[in-house]
Amino acid sequence: MSAGTGGRLAGWLRPIFYLGRNRVSQLGVALTTSAAVTLIGFWLFEVTNSKPVHPYSGILFILVLPFFFLLGLVLIPIGIFFERRRLRREGTLPTEYPKVDLADANLRRAAILIAGLTVANALILSLSAYVGVEYMDSARFCGLTCHTVMAPEYTAYLDSPHSRIACASCHIGPGAPWVVKAKLDGVRQVIAVTFGTYSRPIPSPVHTLRPARATCEQCHWPQKFQGDKLKIISKFGDDEKNTPTKTVLLLKLGGYMGSRALGIHGRHLDDKERISYLTTDGRREVIPSVTYLDDDGKSVVFTSTEVKGTSEDAKKGERRTMDCIDCHNRPTHAFQLPERAVNEAMAADRISPELPFIHKKSIELLKVTYPTREAAFERMEKELTDFYRSKYPDVYQTRRASVETAVREVQRIYGRNVWPDMKITWGTHPNHIGHEDFLGCFRCHDGSHKAPDGRVISAECDACHSLLAQEEANPKVLADLGIH
Ligand code: HEC
Ligand code: HEC
Ligand code: HEC
Ligand code: HEC
Ligand code: HEC
Repeated sequence: MSAGTGGRLAGWLRPIFYLGRNRVSQLGVALTTSAAVTLIGFWLFEVTNSKPVHPYSGILFILVLPFFFLLGLVLIPIGIFFERRRLRREGTLPTEYPKVDLADANLRRAAILIAGLTVANALILSLSAYVGVEYMDSARFCGLTCHTVMAPEYTAYLDSPHSRIACASCHIGPGAPWVVKAKLDGVRQVIAVTFGTYSRPIPSPVHTLRPARATCEQCHWPQKFQGDKLKIISKFGDDEKNTPTKTVLLLKLGGYMGSRALGIHGRHLDDKERISYLTTDGRREVIPSVTYLDDDGKSVVFTSTEVKGTSEDAKKGERRTMDCIDCHNRPTHAFQLPERAVNEAMAADRISPELPFIHKKSIELLKVTYPTREAAFERMEKELTDFYRSKYPDVYQTRRASVETAVREVQRIYGRNVWPDMKITWGTHPNHIGHEDFLGCFRCHDGSHKAPDGRVISAECDACHSLLAQEEANPKVLADLGIH
């Protein structure tokens, strides 16, 4: 070290050494040091331990400790500032600080220590900021930290095609401004959760959701869409044999065909953002008018003859440009209806179709209103077991394991979809794909949305799908395709 830099460094250090000897700065040093040691210990533990930590300890380590670390760092200069003011007021502030002699080995060591600690602190700070942001974007944080609040969404999400992507990929998307906005919203939400002032259920639609172009389209780019999709829907009857049927649809998904955009995806989603609509019910289920840019570039307004929007409604209502979310409003946390959930479970043999009347009994039990989830689980187990024990003793003897599996599956379906604490029950959150369970496509494609020139938003069954079989026992089309 040259004499010049050594001298300058010593000049800097003098007041710090002198003024740093006050309670506030010392408390700061103590806070920062202990937080740093604990944090480093936690990181080492996390790196060597494959299981993720419990979300509450996550909050402690990832949010609370770094806060104290930072608080300590801030206290050091604050202490120095007030010490300086105090000494000046008392008139005891030295004009010349006691000499710091870097030739003195002890002092040199102290100076190196301070420099080393400053670098280490900067590293710890940036690492904990990084870990913190990453953690707050993780599905575990979103889903579990606000335990009861988002448990319904988290549970449904775990059971969905998106269960391996973060909540943040749809809820925040890329780019710093959105992350900052989300974190600010997050602070408001944490306060609401702390004081229990959040709404039950959490309101949907989410009006502040980022447009799908910046979220969904990061992974599903529309130019990739084309062709049709064969969809086979299995259902079971309410009779003793649970008679199975199949519905077969060829969905005209479409997409980009050269320069033309066709079919379900293509029509609503080309780059021109062709479709916007007015909705007046707060749930986007009532749509009095739709504006559409046709192939000739002409703007057409379709107005419903069924639901009338007054000009007052129009002012209060929401105007929205259509994107993915207007059909896929439940791409991941989709809540099911009892019939569909039981049919799916039976098709996958999680509920054995061999059990007499299981379809009818399961749906009946799911539709009862129970005071609590625990009461529901208990009653389901008792009723199903009693039913087979008394009405079908030989089935109960030979297929006892199937009965027990069915009980657990019916309980699971209920537990996944009904959340009395959050006031979520069957059908609370509509799903806009299709038109069987909710209005869905028929919010616009109901045959009553007409333009002044006589055009109608298409309600032809064939516009969206070929219905190849409807609730048939053995559809010929499947036999022809070799699907059983
Ligand atoms: C594949 C994209 C996607 C993922 C992943 C996702 N969400 Fe959502 N989420 C949505 C969409 C889209 C909506 C808005 C629905 C609407 O506005 O109609 C939504 C709405 C919500 C709502 C409002 C209430 C409701 O049910 O509509 C909550 C709460 C929520 N999401 C929480 C979560 C949590 C927690 C996770 C992670 C465990 C998560 N989401 C993951 C797409 C996603
Ligand atoms: C981070 C990437 C990513 C994002 C963002 C994303 N998805 Fe997906 N999506 C996937 C993956 C991966 C699958 C599963 C593909 C598979 O199973 O073949 C999938 C599957 C789907 C499916 C098919 C579901 C099924 O039942 O087969 C739909 C529909 C879908 N996504 C819609 C959306 C919508 C709408 C959004 C925006 C709200 C979105 N996705 C955002 C990655 C993503
Ligand atoms: C007009 C309504 C509508 C819009 C808008 C829409 N989709 Fe779809 N999408 C559908 C329907 C209907 C299906 C078939 C559903 C099924 O398989 O049951 C589908 C299927 C999908 C699938 C699964 C495809 C497959 O081969 O299984 C993905 C992925 C998807 N959509 C993503 C998107 C994305 C991303 C957007 C926005 C860019 C979008 N969709 C916009 C109606 C729509
Ligand atoms: C907000 C209103 C709205 C909703 C909701 C909506 N559409 Fe559309 N759709 C339109 C408009 C407007 C057109 C263009 C006019 C037309 O072709 O009938 C259109 C056109 C189409 C076409 C092309 C029809 C043709 O004859 O070329 C298909 C297919 C289609 N929609 C499928 C769907 C499906 C499937 C859903 C539900 C998953 C859906 N739409 C939901 C407004 C909507
Ligand atoms: C605007 C587009 C559109 C129109 C018009 C339309 N459908 Fe559909 N329909 C769909 C979509 C999308 C689905 C698939 C939903 C899903 O993914 O499960 C569907 C599903 C169905 C199903 C299977 C339902 C189930 O889950 O069991 C039947 C049956 C059906 N449609 C019959 C009809 C008939 C009959 C008409 C004419 C009166 C018609 N649809 C008109 C879009 C449409």
